Amino acid sequence: MNTFLTSMHSGLRWIVLLLLIYSIANAIIRRNTYEKKDRLLYMFTMVSMHIQLLIGLVLYFFISGKVTFHPGWITAAQHRFYGMEHLVGMILAIALVTIGHIASKKQIESSTKHKRILVWYSIGLILVLAFIPWPFRTVLGGHWY
Ligand code: HEM
Repeated sequence: MNTFLTSMHSGLRWIVLLLLIYSIANAIIRRNTYEKKDRLLYMFTMVSMHIQLLIGLVLYFFISGKVTFHPGWITAAQHRFYGMEHLVGMILAIALVTIGHIASKKQIESSTKHKRILVWYSIGLILVLAFIPWPFRTVLGGHWY
């Protein structure tokens, strides 16, 4: 269960990243047309992040050995990252994408619907990229998939 959920969380990052990039490109390209397929794409992107949130919460509270609150954890880079930075950064990214999705749905004009996605999902993407424990940040002990 431990490795299964961690691998799922790790692998799903690529789907989240691809969907975010696809959504942003779609919002730029399709500016004046908004159809059901646009709405579904934007919704799946948000849902993929909500799935990451759920798996992440299980890892955080029940499984991960990288989340420990021993005295001095805040000065240990890996424990601080997973115990605080990753959690806060990703929850913020997920909240912004969710706000963007709701804001887009409320609009009537196609161009404004796409614009809302473009702005909020782009900020979300930057945050996700910033708070992924990429393997080149060796101290975090992350993997590529
Ligand atoms: C879109 C959102 C998220 C993405 C893309 C993401 C991505 C990742 C990635 C790539 C790893 C490293 C896995 C590895 O290399 O082995 C990881 C680890 C982890 N994530 Fe997330 N994460 C997200 C959200 C969250 C949230 C919201 C939480 C907490 C509530 C969370 C908790 C964790 C924990 C505890 C680990 C360490 C697992 C371990 O190796 O013990 N993640 N995450």
